[in-house]
Amino acid sequence: MKGVVLAGGTGSRLFPLTKVTNKHLLPVGKKPMIYYPIEKFIGIGIKEILIVTGTEHMGDVVGLLGSGKDFGCNFTYKVQDEAGGIAQALLLAENFSGGDSIAVILGDNIFEDGLSEMAANYQKSQGSKGARIALKKVPDPQRFGVATLNRDRVVKVVEKPKAPESDLAVTGIYFYDARVFDIIRKQKPSGRGEMEITDVNNAYIDIGEMGYDFLKGWWTDAGTFDSLKRASELAEG
Ligand code: DAU
Repeated sequence: MKGVVLAGGTGSRLFPLTKVTNKHLLPVGKKPMIYYPIEKFIGIGIKEILIVTGTEHMGDVVGLLGSGKDFGCNFTYKVQDEAGGIAQALLLAENFSGGDSIAVILGDNIFEDGLSEMAANYQKSQGSKGARIALKKVPDPQRFGVATLNRDRVVKVVEKPKAPESDLAVTGIYFYDARVFDIIRKQKPSGRGEMEITDVNNAYIDIGEMGYDFLKGWWTDAGTFDSLKRASELAEG
């Protein structure tokens, strides 16, 4: 299986830290943020990794990561011309995926668990078909995609709900089969003008092909001042 790290976007919530650099190059503990998702892929033997980022800082991202030689993997790079949303960034992975299922991590998500259990569950219980998400109980669900469960199924995901139906955040770790690209192509931008990954996940829920795991260890995004600080504290452990 191949891996995709989505590292585009504007980083506007971290301005002015992101005025002249990309959010994913900022330090988390002793490493640049983007090292963490890359290391998660390498931890389960994923060696073909696509990095998607915007035009402004692609040079710096390539300068930092290079070919992948230093990490023992191969990097491919794709440019997202404008920050049109996570699903739009993911669509750029179509050729790279070569028709196989892929693992996707948002470049600002830092988490303790390895990916091996989720990858094994995706294979065992879904035959590497459909989609799989990772959920985590959080105190501030309105900041995230929020999942509603009914018995053992995810019945819906809502992006940043004002009145969340649960405290289960959809974390930025996803497995998708190759149908994801057709799903994205049929999608329309949301009210905030972005192609939402939550709409992609709801499409898989609607066809009854969404699995999920609970993350056991800590998880945080690092896209706000508070969460960036927390990410550093957690990563330093
Ligand atoms: O952190 C998990 C959350 O991430 C999920 O619970 C939400 O459902 C999901 O929409 C997302 O929410 P955010 O509003 O926090 O996403 P953000 O815009 O910060 O983007 C997260 C990462 O996705 C970012 O680090 C880089 C990548 N991205 C984002 C956009 C908007 C791209 O590669 N291109 C983009 O255009």
